[in-house]
Amino acid sequence: MAENKLAIFASGSGTNAEEFFRYFNHHPFIKIGALLSNNPEAFALKRADNYGIPVNVFSKNSFYKSDETLKYLRIKEISHIVLAGFMWLVPENIIYGYKNRIYNIHPALLPKYGGKGMYGDIVHRAVIENGESYSGITIHYVNNKFDEGKIIFQEKCPVLHDDKPESLAVRIHQLEYAHYPRVIEEVISGKIQ
Ligand code: GAR
Repeated sequence: MAENKLAIFASGSGTNAEEFFRYFNHHPFIKIGALLSNNPEAFALKRADNYGIPVNVFSKNSFYKSDETLKYLRIKEISHIVLAGFMWLVPENIIYGYKNRIYNIHPALLPKYGGKGMYGDIVHRAVIENGESYSGITIHYVNNKFDEGKIIFQEKCPVLHDDKPESLAVRIHQLEYAHYPRVIEEVISGKIQ
């Protein structure tokens, strides 16, 4: 199979991003080509540095009002984009340039608990406050609306009676690490759609 190069977009800590760096280190046909962030303080940038992965930080203006990010992705010969804790909507020029090759992970069972402003612990708090017995993860294609692209994969986990957002987040993160890189590998290999 021809080489595929992923760009990871992350806004914060980047533990999922690091799982990708680890999983695809020395992979036969998938490489990590770059880590991009809207946040110059994102710890994800340091994690990328440690793996020798090129980083790119962009401003809101350049992301939404220019083709700079798209140009950077082309220069790096990126074939697919993985959002891993990335909090901004992806603009049309990138959605169009990477049609059906942009993926996101959401820390809940979509279509519930998705949409603008639903990220990280805000999602977990809402799940707990609504008395849900289960939460989980959703891996999906990205389109021009928050969390509405076609679902590729979901896995659930229990919500325990004494869960706080932080304890549920730990369980959800474990699910994310166990599945996200593998599911993307299978999508790129054509094993699942
Ligand atoms: C992850 O749990 C991811 O599912 C979530 O942000 C976290 C990032 O953690 N994404 C969203 O909430 C998107 N709406 P990380 O920076 O440690 O990978």
